[in-house]
Amino acid sequence: MSVSVTIESIEKRFDAFAALRGVSLDIQPAELVALLGPSGSGKTTLLRLIAGLEQADQGRVLFGETDMRDLSLRDRRIGFVFQHYALFRTMTVGENVAFGLKSRPRGQRPDDAEIRKRVGDLLELVQLPGLDKRYPSQLSGGQRQRVALARALAIEPRVLLLDEPFGALDARVRKDLRAWLRDLHRRTGHTTVFVTHDQEEALELADRVAILNDGRIEQVGSADDVYDHPATPFVCEFLGEVNKLPVKVVGSQAFFGDRPVLGGLSQNQGGQAALYVRPQHLRIVDDLPLALPGVVEHLRRNGPLRRAEVAVQGLAKRLDVDLASQVAPAIGEHIRLRITHGSLFAAA
Ligand SMILES: Nc1ncnc2c1ncn2[C@@H]1O[C@H](COP(=O)(O)OP(=O)(O)OP(=O)(O)O)[C@@H](O)[C@H]1O
Ligand SMILES: [Mg+2]
Repeated sequence: MSVSVTIESIEKRFDAFAALRGVSLDIQPAELVALLGPSGSGKTTLLRLIAGLEQADQGRVLFGETDMRDLSLRDRRIGFVFQHYALFRTMTVGENVAFGLKSRPRGQRPDDAEIRKRVGDLLELVQLPGLDKRYPSQLSGGQRQRVALARALAIEPRVLLLDEPFGALDARVRKDLRAWLRDLHRRTGHTTVFVTHDQEEALELADRVAILNDGRIEQVGSADDVYDHPATPFVCEFLGEVNKLPVKVVGSQAFFGDRPVLGGLSQNQGGQAALYVRPQHLRIVDDLPLALPGVVEHLRRNGPLRRAEVAVQGLAKRLDVDLASQVAPAIGEHIRLRITHGSLFAAA
């Protein structure tokens, strides 16, 4: 039922502007891949190319072994939920969901009773049973998105393409729909490409995340891969807050000034480098080796998170330290920080 999607060296220009610059990505059957990147990085363009709504200047897209261009629109069997989607406003929910089935040629069109049953089943699946007689204007935003998904699923797609389907919804509803989509995917197993610019959404939902920047994929990997082992400074910064320390690498150790701050490094590039450290990878410790002395200058709370801002001599910017369950220090207190994990990049 579901199919692999292979994206091979895609180049796409709009006049002189290169929107995609050599993008390759292998998507396994039934895999859920998130395309994550800032506005303008090429996410929608890539999704439209996979759907065949846009032609590549170079490269190709394969569904299984077949070049997508050799398949008729119908045989591609793509379910698409657009970024700025619109349900058909003059049609009821039921008519919207039935649309793809009703527009099939006569020989392949299920009969009316069958279509009614399928629509009922799909509305059940997206947890909107019994709403088939309503019009889109009589639904909440989250309900409309689920109808759009039901409409995309109705044609039994081989590939499901979702372009920021929850983009317009508030944070709470997004979270609910995220969990719901994950579950739906587990049950239906469609090969799915999901576009978002929300890091949390991508990391939580996807089997793998592809991070786009400026028309290129900077890294593809599981949430843990990309979060804990970012391939580039861009990926590291895009996925969450991070402190930066200029360091010198000697052997397997990084030094801040003449103080060793992180050992056991496998990247043996040596010389000047930038060490990127997430706030949760700084721990307040007693006087021990590999600790960085600093002074607490500010404490703040951001939702469930407690943070300390710590000034370190020789560093222009204060370090952000996640306190988690650590005992909060006092403002003005002298503390020592241990770096538990960091990513090294070439010095800027
Ligand atoms: N039809 C077009 N003509 C000219 N330029 C285009 C066209 N479509 C997209 N672009 C440009 O290509 C780049 C990538 O656009 P795209 O819509 O793929 O970005 P995106 O990553 O989806 O961004 P967003 O998160 O804002 O939706 C942008 O700079 C955009 O202006
Ligand atoms: Mg877009």
